[in-house]
Formats: sequence, C-alpha cells, structure tokens
Amino acid sequence: MSVSIVVAMGLNRVIGTDRGLPWHLPVDLKRFRALTIGNPIIMGRTTHEQIGKPLPGRPNIVLTRNRNFHRPVIELVHTPQEAISLAQRLGGEIMIVGGGEVYRQFLPLASRLHLTIVEHSPTGTTTFPLDELVGTRWTVRHQEYCAADERNAFAHRYYCLDRDADGQELLALVNTGINEADRRLRLD
Ligand SMILES: NC(=O)c1ccc[n+]([C@@H]2O[C@H](COP(=O)([O-])OP(=O)(O)OC[C@H]3O[C@@H](n4cnc5c(N)ncnc54)[C@H](OP(=O)(O)O)[C@@H]3O)[C@@H](O)[C@H]2O)c1
Repeated sequence: MSVSIVVAMGLNRVIGTDRGLPWHLPVDLKRFRALTIGNPIIMGRTTHEQIGKPLPGRPNIVLTRNRNFHRPVIELVHTPQEAISLAQRLGGEIMIVGGGEVYRQFLPLASRLHLTIVEHSPTGTTTFPLDELVGTRWTVRHQEYCAADERNAFAHRYYCLDRDADGQELLALVNTGINEADRRLRLD
C-alpha cells in the first residue's frame, strides 16, 4: 500500500481559509490534477464541501462522522480505516488531499509527500500539521521552482519526497536550499 499526501502550504504553514485556498496558482492546480487523476483521493467533508463538487476522473472518498450525510456521486466513509480499505480496493496511489484534520490523521501512514511551498504567508483558518513530521526523514525525488507570473501571483516550489530512514530531517531538508529561490522559501 502506498499512501501519499498532496498539500500546498504557505511559509507560515497556512493551507486554507473558511472559503478555500488562500491563493490562485493555476500551475499548482494543474500539477495536482496530473498527480491525482486516476488515483483514489481521500478528503475531509469540509474540503469536499468547499470544492463544491466531486473532482472528475478519480474516485472521491470523503470522510464524515455524520451518518446522515449523503451524496450519491462520492464515496462516503466514516473512519480512516474504512477510507484506506476502500482506496486499496479501488487500486492506484492513495492520495490524501486534505484538509488539516485529515492530513494530521494520515501523516503517520504516508510514504510520499507531494509538498508545494508557496512564497506567501497568508491569513487563514487551517494550517498543515508539519509538527507531526518532526524527526521524520525524507529524500527528495524531484523538485521544481516556479516563479510568479501574470497568472500565478506567488512563486512556489514543489517537492516530491519519499520517506527514507537514510534521508534528511524534513525541515532541515526544505530549509537548507542554497540558491536564492530556496532562501526566500525558508519555513519558520
Ligand atoms: N492547501 C491545500 O493543499 C489544501 C488542501 C485541502 C484543503 N485545504 C484547506 O483545509 C481546510 C479544511 O481543513 P479542515 O481541517 O477544516 O477540514 P477537513 O480535514 O477537510 O475535514 C474535516 C472533516 O472531515 C471529517 N473527518 C475528519 N476526521 C474524521 C474521522 N476520523 N472520521 C470520520 N470523519 C472524519 C469530519 O466531517 P464531519 O464534520 O462531517 O463529521 C470533519 O469535520 C480548508 O481551509 C481548505 O481550503 C487546503
């Protein structure tokens, strides 16, 4: 079983507001689509309701404790175990796509982290539970720096990280960038 986290967070760890993402980054949305398409995605009911519709081309597994919440077009589950079992039956890379409460519960299971760090410290209501990863070690498989442009208001860096006992501690890894772009993307 392979469980991946997909998240975009600001330098202050903020990932969302009560209305949705705190930025509009078409480049990152396109990457999110490419990563998740065809794979089962697991999200919390809050995130699902913010998106407002099922994301096409991939099974949407939505976690809720509310047994009276019904939506015919998504797969509803009531425990993290149920979410994982269903995703395993469906096959593919299991993608945990938020939000904060759901990330926190699945981080211990994750062997891969698709992490976008946005060069911005927005005001928000939800943060990524990065503290859960203190002491864990990861290796960078791939990274991309995307400068801001007329459509993407903020520069951002995407990392694909694999959990690896011989890797580096996550915060150290993200913060020891040596070029200018990396320095601007230093996390607190
Ligand atoms: N930047 C990013 O990459 C990204 C990605 C996704 C979301 N977000 C942001 O994250 C925020 C939402 O995060 P959130 O923490 O408020 O909510 P969330 O994690 O999306 O959803 C929380 C809800 O999921 C259900 N749930 C959670 N754990 C459960 C469990 N163990 N068993 C059954 N149901 C469970 C509950 O639904 P019920 O209340 O129905 O029981 C709970 O209220 C938004 O601001 C959104 O924009 C950001």
